[in-house]
Amino acid sequence: MPVTTVPLTSVPLKPVPGPRGLPLLGNLPAFGRDPLGFLVRLRDEYGDAVTWSLGPRRSLFLFHPAHIAEFLAARERTFELLEIGWAFKQLTGQSLILSKGSDWRRKRSLVQPTVRPRQVRGYAAAMVECAQAAAGQWQDGDRIDVRHQMALLTQRIVLRTLFGNDLGDRTRALSEAMAVAEHGIGAELRNMTLFLPGWIRTPGRRRLLRAVATIDAEVHRLIRARQRHGGTEDRDDLLSRLLAARDEEGRPLTTQEVRDEAATLWAAGHETTSTALTWTWYLLSRSPEARERLTAELDEVLGGRPPTIDDYDRLPWTRQIIKEALRLYPPAWLIPAVARDGATLADTRIPPGTVVWCSQWTTHRDPRWFPEPTRFRPERWDPEAPDPVPDHAWYPFGGGQRTCLGARFAQVEAALLLATLAQHCHLDVTPAAPAPRVGLLLQPPTPLHATVRRH
Ligand code: HEM
Repeated sequence: MPVTTVPLTSVPLKPVPGPRGLPLLGNLPAFGRDPLGFLVRLRDEYGDAVTWSLGPRRSLFLFHPAHIAEFLAARERTFELLEIGWAFKQLTGQSLILSKGSDWRRKRSLVQPTVRPRQVRGYAAAMVECAQAAAGQWQDGDRIDVRHQMALLTQRIVLRTLFGNDLGDRTRALSEAMAVAEHGIGAELRNMTLFLPGWIRTPGRRRLLRAVATIDAEVHRLIRARQRHGGTEDRDDLLSRLLAARDEEGRPLTTQEVRDEAATLWAAGHETTSTALTWTWYLLSRSPEARERLTAELDEVLGGRPPTIDDYDRLPWTRQIIKEALRLYPPAWLIPAVARDGATLADTRIPPGTVVWCSQWTTHRDPRWFPEPTRFRPERWDPEAPDPVPDHAWYPFGGGQRTCLGARFAQVEAALLLATLAQHCHLDVTPAAPAPRVGLLLQPPTPLHATVRRH
């Protein structure tokens, strides 16, 4: 399915001041109360580029795809990453996701090849196998928590693709440690303790550190085992590929760097995809026509056999469903960066220190680019659809050089899991309109109950 985009034309940038907000705190309380609603109001009441204050910092919010594309592309040159706080760093260390400049370029060039399309081909069979095992456990009429089930499934897959079958009975303890660490990071964000100095140890922070220590010990043990047995050439998991990677001067990643990149791929690579799949089931359970077309496509292309990576291109409707779910409920919903000296957008100077933001939530639901923006309509992605979508009006994976490293992995995984599971059953999600829970990701509420309807 070709991505339906129209080229960008130059759009002038004319920032207008947004709501005044409170002294010192600025718009922080209004944003904190209802972040999604606040951003939609900014867009609808003020326009495409709005200045506002987040605490003492001046911020600029961008809503137009032309400005968003330019901003995302300019980040490596004229913007800094916004500090994401102490907690996230405990888990990812100094991996590529928090690195800058030449350090980031080196790490990205070493890690990127582990998730190229050719490598993702190799992970596809494990994805389908894990999905078949999950579907095999659900009986007709069972009530399941979709969010929990999707999280278990993508967790299993990321651990298989990272470490092969080496984890054995430690899989559970390790998955639990990751869940505790991720919960701790989300809690810091919700409680606004994000930027407290690292030496302040709340009970939540102590739990987080214990969980990270469990993850560290296990990942280091796996790395040592690979190093002891020499050679990783015969293995095709991500950990072996990270250990075998060499930069332009032939240097490998250090042991600590391998640990940090493995933890980052793990953390970045499972909850994002499970969230996307959970929203997909929710949307499908509200759309019988989309579901029927899905069943028809799976019957026609697969005829009852499990999908393989070669089927990915042959399942356009399955991919359109995922794409539309990522539009309506983008798991990653906010991208900030801080302007450096010399930053410009659309030939307009951006004062240094300004935090520039864009949000997939607001752009993906903008009626200018998506007629009937709140409706789930996978057919809007038909190649012959009448309304072409501008570049960067859909950007669940970000953009520019720092675009999501695992975008291909995630899209293949989501499509193959949906195709495998939907061959066996559909999930009828009961709550009518669950409001997203806003954290690092836009999550459905938990539990999100569904009844299994086996075919
Ligand atoms: C539906 C699933 C996913 C979504 C929605 C998603 C979204 C994103 C977004 C929005 C970014 C920031 C991009 C930017 O700043 O322009 C990102 C970065 C990243 N993602 Fe993903 N992601 C997903 C799955 C994955 C997977 C499966 C992996 C790994 C296997 C992964 C690894 C990464 C890494 C390492 C980065 C940092 C890249 C860098 O800073 O150079 N993601 N992702």
